[in-house]
Amino acid sequence: MSVHSEIKKITTETLRKMKFDKEKITMLTAYDFTTAKMVDAGGVDSILIGDSAANVMAGHETTLPITLDQMIYHTQCVVRGVERALVVADLPFGTYQSNPEKALDSAVRMMKEGGAHAIKIEGGKEIEESIRKIVNAGIPVCGHLGLTPQSIYQFGTYKVRAKEDAEAEKLISDCKLLEELGCFAVVLEKIPAALAKKASESISIPTIGIGAGPDCDGQVLVYHDLVGMNKGFSPKFLRRYLDLYTEITGAVSQYVQDVKSSDFPNDKESY
Ligand code: KIV
Repeated sequence: MSVHSEIKKITTETLRKMKFDKEKITMLTAYDFTTAKMVDAGGVDSILIGDSAANVMAGHETTLPITLDQMIYHTQCVVRGVERALVVADLPFGTYQSNPEKALDSAVRMMKEGGAHAIKIEGGKEIEESIRKIVNAGIPVCGHLGLTPQSIYQFGTYKVRAKEDAEAEKLISDCKLLEELGCFAVVLEKIPAALAKKASESISIPTIGIGAGPDCDGQVLVYHDLVGMNKGFSPKFLRRYLDLYTEITGAVSQYVQDVKSSDFPNDKESY
């Protein structure tokens, strides 16, 4: 029996070619097997095990508390559900900033134990040596610039980043650096659309935007936001495709009513 699947898998090279061919790249988060299966079947090019798992799976206010072991667990679950998409996993806060050796150890664990196809880390110049070390080990790296949620306590707010010239210039120079270091893509989060356009035109690797306007080479959203499970979260950049919060609470309350009234289970649902 062949171990090779018939399905054409998306690779970092596919994404590079998509930018070259001007075909938009799609990315969505997933954190578990069942969701990953649906997201993959829906045809996204890449699935991100974002450290937003800290928020939507664990209920933390920020992404800071999630651990490498927890991210590896989520990645293992997702990988088992994916046949086609490129699986990218976030390295969580504190697992790559202190020194390049630690960064490489974290990335190796994510690839070896988690089964990710690539890792994503937040930052530019400040983490140059960590990125170099990971890329040199043959691990594909996706950068993340703009509103980098692991720095939320430094920013103090989730407002749009890089509106001022100095931060905008640094973002463009960080994009170029990430390309030079061998990153295969860069996520641009919550920055002005015009700056994201300029950044996308300045580098040959794909930019994947979230709250960064229409001119990025691709778009990423958090799955729970797209399907409307996050009731209170309505930033301007979000397009909701479902209202699952209402659907699910409605289904649960109907179930409660059916059991209480002895309507469920009926004869057909009994042995
Ligand atoms: O953690 C995450 O989900 C992310 C995306 C929002 C890009 O980093």
